[in-house]
This record gives sequence, C-alpha cells and structure tokens, in this order.
Amino acid sequence: MHKRPIRIEPSILSGDFGRLADEAKRLEDAGADGIHIDIMDGHFVPNLTLGPRAAAAINRATNLFLDLHLMIYNPFDYIEKFVESGADRITFHFEATEDVDDTLAFIRRCGCKAGLAFRPETSYAMIQKYLYQSDLILIMTVSPGFGGQKFMPEMLEKIRLTREYCDRNRIRQGGIIAKPEIKSDALPPFDIQVDGGINEETGKQCVEAGANVLVSGNYLFSQPNLKQAIHNLRSSV
Ligand code: DX5
Ligand code: ZN
Repeated sequence: MHKRPIRIEPSILSGDFGRLADEAKRLEDAGADGIHIDIMDGHFVPNLTLGPRAAAAINRATNLFLDLHLMIYNPFDYIEKFVESGADRITFHFEATEDVDDTLAFIRRCGCKAGLAFRPETSYAMIQKYLYQSDLILIMTVSPGFGGQKFMPEMLEKIRLTREYCDRNRIRQGGIIAKPEIKSDALPPFDIQVDGGINEETGKQCVEAGANVLVSGNYLFSQPNLKQAIHNLRSSV
C-alpha cells in the first residue's frame, strides 16, 4: 500500500472563466494544495485557453502553489513570461520541443520547479532519462486539449512502471538519488502527476499505481460543494 502524501491540484479549466480570481480563491478556501492552469496554443492541442497575463492575475488572487501546464509548441520561448507570472512549477510537453533538456534546465535556473508531460501515446521508455533532471513527470490520462474527457486506464501501467523505476533506482523528489547509506524514504518521493478524467475512483487507481499529485477539473467543479469534493477525493485515494 502507498504511504505517500497526496497533493490535489485542481484544474481551473473547468472553473468560470468570467470570474477566475474568485475561482482561485474558492479553490484556496476549499483546501486545494495548488492550482493547475492549462495553457493551450491551438497548435499543439486543438484548443486555446489562457496566457501569462491571466496566469499572473490568478496568482495575485491566491497564495496557492501555481502549477502551469503548457500545451504549446516551443515552450522555451515563453518560459520567462510564465516565470514572471508567478509560476511555482512549469510543466511542458516532451512532444512539443526538441530542446527538452535545455528547457528543463532553464526553468530550474529561473527558480521554478520543472515538470515534463507525456501524451498518452508516448511510450514509457521515453520517460526514464528525464527522472534525473525534472521535478515532476506528468502522465496524461487523457489526450490533452479539453476538460471532461474519460480516463484512459491503459495509462496505469505507465504510472506503475515509472514509480517502480524511481523506487528501484532510489530516485527521490527533484531527481535526487538517495545515497546507499540512507534509507531512501528519508527523502520525499519523486512527484508523479496525473491529469485527465480524475475522480474518486480513477484517482484511487492512479495513487495505487504510484501517482502522488492529482489534477482534477470537471469532477471537482461539477460538485455542489468544492470543499467537500476535494475532501472526498483526498479521503478516497
Ligand atoms: C486537459 C487538461 C486538464 C484538464 C483536466 O488537456 O490538461 O488539466 O483540465 O480536466 P478533467 O479533470 O476535467 O479531465
Ligand atoms: Zn492540465
């Protein structure tokens, strides 16, 4: 059984875009561990959402950890703008650039945590080498682009393999390798995030497979009471 602390980072994509600052405050009051903002460019994914100015406005409205999920081509070119918007973590897609290493390193040099996301069709074999140079791996559990899609159970195997690889190689949070003389669980675990179709049932499956950071949009925002919904999700996993 898992004993990893779980973070819940709701996706504001399913919130009311006419009241983003209020929605951010609502998430904070409801006990979220962070706020996940989906940035889409209409090219890497067939949808357009928000840019750095909107992210900055959301950030001003809350003290929550700001998690930006960039679904855009050439992410390197936009990193500085998103850093200025107050991001705590910037995650971009493996499939969106040929400069994965440089982009990860640049995000870290800017003082942010660096995450790397993988589309469902990208194989697990691509993930391993980046565990040593990222702060988080995002395993997409739907095809990126839209909220409210159905969870893909085939992704559970990818999560499992990633967690097993981390455990076997003593890779802990931030890609740090635990020295042989210390117990590896003396350091916090490597962060594996899942995003897409997460609810109480699929969240539990993902956590059992090894995920410890859950993004959830449609499921949380469609409930009458956001605080209760976050509480329920937390206690179900
Ligand atoms: C999809 C986005 C998700 C989305 C998840 O491309 O990356 O963050 O908001 O939403 P749900 O939980 O509705 O699938
Ligand atoms: Zn997302």
